[in-house]
Amino acid sequence: MITIERLNLRAEGVAQGVTVARALPGETVEGAEDGGRIAQPRILEPSPQRVAAPCRHYKACGGCALMHASDAFVAEWKQDVVRHALALQGIEAAFRPILTSPPRSRRRATLAGRRLKSGALVGFHARASDTVTAIPDCQLLDPALIAMIPALEALVALGGSRKGEVKLTVTAFDQGVEVAASGGKPLDNALRMGLPQIAGQYGVARLAWDGEVLLQSEPPSLPMGAAKVSPPPGAFLQATAHGEASLLQAVREAVGEARSVADLFAGCGTFSLPLAENAEVLAVEGAAEMLAALDLGWRNATGLKRITTETRDLFRRPLLPDELAAFDAVVIDPPRAGAEAQTAELAASGVPVIAFVSCNPVTFARDAKTLVSAGYLLDWVQVVDQFRWSAHVELAARFTLT
Ligand SMILES: C[S@@+](CC[C@H](N)C(=O)[O-])C[C@H]1O[C@@H](n2cnc3c(N)ncnc32)[C@H](O)[C@@H]1O
Repeated sequence: MITIERLNLRAEGVAQGVTVARALPGETVEGAEDGGRIAQPRILEPSPQRVAAPCRHYKACGGCALMHASDAFVAEWKQDVVRHALALQGIEAAFRPILTSPPRSRRRATLAGRRLKSGALVGFHARASDTVTAIPDCQLLDPALIAMIPALEALVALGGSRKGEVKLTVTAFDQGVEVAASGGKPLDNALRMGLPQIAGQYGVARLAWDGEVLLQSEPPSLPMGAAKVSPPPGAFLQATAHGEASLLQAVREAVGEARSVADLFAGCGTFSLPLAENAEVLAVEGAAEMLAALDLGWRNATGLKRITTETRDLFRRPLLPDELAAFDAVVIDPPRAGAEAQTAELAASGVPVIAFVSCNPVTFARDAKTLVSAGYLLDWVQVVDQFRWSAHVELAARFTLT
């Protein structure tokens, strides 16, 4: 019998160096240990924060990790993950109340598909396994995505290989659902005919197979500020509309009255396009096709200030202090690896305000330390939970030069 001390970054219980699946701090548990992990613990004394999971798939499905904990616990734990990462770097910060996306609001997700002897199965991976589990009553995904599962299964039944798994990135747009598939059979003439036929029957808005667009009725698009953007197939978008709005609100507030903004790791313009209502923007991003979508959205919009785009690898060629000095504010939203090289240049730049958006508290805290050591003040942190019930933590923060 052991007592759970804390959760690790995968939201698993930790007790005496052993990880315990789906256990909460303070709970006493027992169970067979295998390789330092108890996969099927018996909960002897449950935490007052333990709740009945609000999804019938939770027992088998690995898509969620924290449905057995109360909303209040998850909110506090996610704030604590960021607080703790910053404390390890010697930084304290003021935290705003967490903003959590509602259930059934994930508009973008990656599902797994397997071809079976007859038909196919599409869902999330089962817990700690590479088998696929069905999720017809998923509480996470936008109902428009759930409604597409029969279409996805029909596509995988035709295009899935016997051994491998098809990775299906699905995104709900106003025009319908986009499916970007990879890992299936290589395209041949039969698939080039058959796959779009299936997608058409089920009303898929756009189908891409290994990056090749096979069907597109009308380019799927979504609003970004005053612009309408049609991202390339499978492109990064914030996972929920609520999460995007929450991050944007924090970024707008951080940037304030700035008249000239650099948006680094700009994607398709989630922040650049709304900010261009008040400021001229330089949008820098590694993926040229995402910037092309941003640029087209800007050109077709009215009333926005100028946005200039630059395709650039910001890990290898970060913007240098003399390039940054022209801006009143910088927005930076790197991938999970963070932005070590770019942050070092920012620290030397003298830019008065930095709006930092991050999907990894550990690399965020590392980069925050670089800024704080150079004289920046971390004014506030806004944790945004758009990956509800997962171990994922996202945040926006404002740094100002003291
Ligand atoms: C977390 S996303 C943010 C995108 C955008 N800010 C948004 O909110 O939609 C990170 C972005 O960084 C881009 N990226 C990844 N590595 C990069 C690199 N080395 N240089 C420049 N951009 C990179 C990705 O293509 C992606 O668009």
